[in-house]
Amino acid sequence: MDFQWYPGHMTKAKRMMQENMKLIDIMIELVDARIPLSSRNPDIDQLAANKSRLILLNKTDMADERVTAQWEEYFKEKGFYVARTNARSGKGVKGTQAIVMDACKEKLERDRKRGIKNRPIRAMIAGIPNVGKSTFINSLVGKACTKTGNKPGVTKGKQWIKLNKNIELLDTPGILWPKFEDQQVGLRLALIGSIRDEILNQDEMAIELIEYLKNHYQGILADRYQVDENEDKVKILEQIALNRNCKMKGNELDYEKASKIVLEEFRNGKLGKISLETPEEGTKEA
Ligand code: G4P
Repeated sequence: MDFQWYPGHMTKAKRMMQENMKLIDIMIELVDARIPLSSRNPDIDQLAANKSRLILLNKTDMADERVTAQWEEYFKEKGFYVARTNARSGKGVKGTQAIVMDACKEKLERDRKRGIKNRPIRAMIAGIPNVGKSTFINSLVGKACTKTGNKPGVTKGKQWIKLNKNIELLDTPGILWPKFEDQQVGLRLALIGSIRDEILNQDEMAIELIEYLKNHYQGILADRYQVDENEDKVKILEQIALNRNCKMKGNELDYEKASKIVLEEFRNGKLGKISLETPEEGTKEA
């Protein structure tokens, strides 16, 4: 789940994406619904220029529905087709096929006028690591699929998965990298567990999360940890350590243990459905 990107990796990944781009009609981009901007790659708009575009707000089961609806509007206004999915449970996954057809209707019309019949739409899934690309592909494809390409005696080519008579999907997703250089992006990716924990200090991450929750999701910390949300963020962590009996030898409070509890409970949904960025804040930061 953690990724290590080096300039060499990025150049190679980008080159592969560029090559594949020539083969497809539509780019299906997965983002994490809790951080739709921070989980996007800055180059994708340029890479996929002139293609039909579908953004999938994935992991909606973990995101705040109200905020996800705002993101849906946000991307629609920018001209994207948008769908909400939970690739793990399969919710919304099959429905994306009809959206793909809709997003490609102009191409289909052009084909029809030129007398081209039955040419399938070719699609590619892309996104940064851990947004759920493989899970989505597995859920969409299921067991009943036919792979085309790379048949014996046929020139080695790309593997396409035939989803139905109208749509073919490139079997390997395009992997992109996030906007590492932005500290906020790094923090949010770490909070949702997409970057290895060791890279960032646990206490600092937990404190940032506490501050965010205190400001955006009033009552959650108070309910779960019986803390006073009017206190400052460090004091709240201290209260959590106390209430959860996080102590080291000599009875000193163990902030790291308390931090781990908060981070873990956020990641496994025990704190509820929470989004870490809104279109309004995201646009301001950008
Ligand atoms: P990637 O190909 O983009 O790198 O992501 P991948 O499908 O490997 O998914 C990364 C993790 O996210 C997996 O969890 C996967 O189950 C989870 N996931 C994908 N889509 C959703 C979703 O819509 N909702 C939720 N809640 N989780 C989702 P994992 O813990 O790394 O693996 P596993 O324990 O599920 O096998």
